[in-house]
Amino acid sequence: MSTAKIPVITIDGPTASGKGTVAQKVARHLGFHYLDSGALYRLTALSALRRDVALNDEHALAKTAEHLHCHFDGAHIFLANEDVTTAIRAELVGNTASRIAALPTVRQALYGLQLSFRKAPGLVADGRDMGTVIFPHAPLKVFLTASVEARAQRRYKQLIDKGFPANMDDLSKDLTERDARDTNRSSAPLRPAEGAHLLDTSEMTADEAVAQVLSWYAAL
Ligand code: C5P
Repeated sequence: MSTAKIPVITIDGPTASGKGTVAQKVARHLGFHYLDSGALYRLTALSALRRDVALNDEHALAKTAEHLHCHFDGAHIFLANEDVTTAIRAELVGNTASRIAALPTVRQALYGLQLSFRKAPGLVADGRDMGTVIFPHAPLKVFLTASVEARAQRRYKQLIDKGFPANMDDLSKDLTERDARDTNRSSAPLRPAEGAHLLDTSEMTADEAVAQVLSWYAAL
C-alpha cells in the first residue's frame, strides 16, 4: 500500500483532554499503529534537561530533537535504551516540552519522525497539530475538548496514580498557562483542523468518546 493510502485518524486537543487514552483505545480496536506525538516533545525536553541544554538555545534544542535516540515498545517509551515511560510524565518535563514546542526549528526537527509512524494497516495520531500540520489529509480528524476543571481532575488522578505529588490549584493554573502557550504560539498553534469533528468529553467516559470516534470512522 502506498503511504498516502494508509488511513490516519488524527486526535488533537488541549492538555489532559483525554486524547491519549481515546487514541490508544481507538488504535487497539482497529489494529492500527499509535503515535503519541506529545511524547516526542517530552523526550526532547527530558534529553535537553539532562544534558543541561539552555532552554533559550533554539539551535541546540533542535539538534537534541533531531538526534533523539528513542523507541516505543507497546506502552513503554525508551530514550537511548532507558525506559523513561514514567520520567517523561513529570510536570517539569511537560512544562519544558510545552516551552520548547513553541520553537519552529524543534517542530521541524520532529516532522519526519512523526511521518514515519504512518504504516499499514493504519495510524491513530494524537497531539496538537496532527490534523493541521503533520497529517492534513487524514480522512478522519477529531478535536477533543473538555473543561479546565474536568481536565485538572483527570491530570490529578493520573499523577497520583503514577506516584507523583499533585495539587489541584497548581494543576488548573498550569493547564491554563499551557493551553494559552499552545494556542497563542505562531508555529502550529493548537486549533481544530479544517473539517475536524469536535468532541467535548467533559461529561463523557473514555469508552463513550472511543465509540463516537469509531462510529465517525465507520461512516467514512
Ligand atoms: O500531549 P502532551 O501533554 O504529552 O504534550 C506535551 C507538550 O508538547 C504539550 O504541552 C505541547 O506544548 C507539545 N506538543 C505539541 N505538538 C504536539 C504534541 C505536543 O506542541 N503535536
